[in-house]
Amino acid sequence: MTEPGSLIEQIEALEAEANEALAGAATAADVEAARVRFIGRKEGRLTAIMRGLGALSAEQRPAVGEAANRARERITVALEQAAGRVAGPQPGSGGPDLTLPGRSPWRGARHPVTEVIDEICRVLAGLGFTRARGPEAETDWYNFVALNTPLDHPAADMHDTFYLTPDVLLRSHTSPVQIRTMQRHRPPIRIVAPGMCYRRDPFDASHAPAFEQLEGLAVDEGITFVDLRATLARFARGLFGPQTRVRFRPSFFPFTEPSAEVDVSCVVCGGSGCSTCKGTGWVEIMGAGMVDPAVFDNLGYDAERYTGFAFGMGPARIALMRYGIPDIRLLYESDVRFLEQITGP
Ligand code: PHE
Repeated sequence: MTEPGSLIEQIEALEAEANEALAGAATAADVEAARVRFIGRKEGRLTAIMRGLGALSAEQRPAVGEAANRARERITVALEQAAGRVAGPQPGSGGPDLTLPGRSPWRGARHPVTEVIDEICRVLAGLGFTRARGPEAETDWYNFVALNTPLDHPAADMHDTFYLTPDVLLRSHTSPVQIRTMQRHRPPIRIVAPGMCYRRDPFDASHAPAFEQLEGLAVDEGITFVDLRATLARFARGLFGPQTRVRFRPSFFPFTEPSAEVDVSCVVCGGSGCSTCKGTGWVEIMGAGMVDPAVFDNLGYDAERYTGFAFGMGPARIALMRYGIPDIRLLYESDVRFLEQITGP
């Protein structure tokens, strides 16, 4: 009669053998073969030992039976683990999930304000305007004095702009590019000058302390207010669509005379009134006017011979209207999820 102690040793040896077989299993077939060999219903070696339990004495049976059951449970767990390992990573197993769809690579896109600037420049290029640029740090002469704005004018106040030294500041508008262009070139002049400007403005829904502006300037013999109106009407139709209407309202700028605020019929509602145009049907898009003779005098231009017009607009505000964005800060927060809604992923 077999000693119960040696039967338990046999069970332990079988379990060790099963673990070794499973460690070497490389395929599902290997794992299945091990299952059949150790715990298979017909030929399993552990199954055979369990089948013989009935022949043991009542004292021996519980200890051997318990050892066999425990071994069977542990081998079953080891079989499951081996089956999982040879099958490779599964969804939810913690490994890479190979069934997921691929991630498309992230593509950069131009910022909506850059898009608007480029489009404005494209429309104006069709009217003969070429791009120009100037420095963002300007002397107060270029930013104010040459533009007929005395330094005691409120706009030149320390509290309204960012001074770097007592007479150098971050330009508060792109108009100094008018001066630099007229110094460097003789008429005929037709330029469009986009660039950053800086003002001590609150950062709120409609203001940013750093913002883009876009300056236009045309100087030649015989330029009149009619040319200004016709140019801006063509421009507005080219940018916003052929049904767009333009409205001039009297205004004041030190460097233009006469001066105007220019409105376009609301691109969102077509002029019937909506939240974008605050119910008026019109949206202000720029300041404009005829170059003031005092500016020509400052540059030694013959104001009897030359006339011209200038205009300045904020492309970010145009982007707000065009894309129906309620708050200018959204354009500058660089939240890609927001920008993707406009430019696409
Ligand atoms: N520079 C003016 C501003 O910043 C805009 C402007 C430009 C007005 C050119 C008239 C002509 O408000």
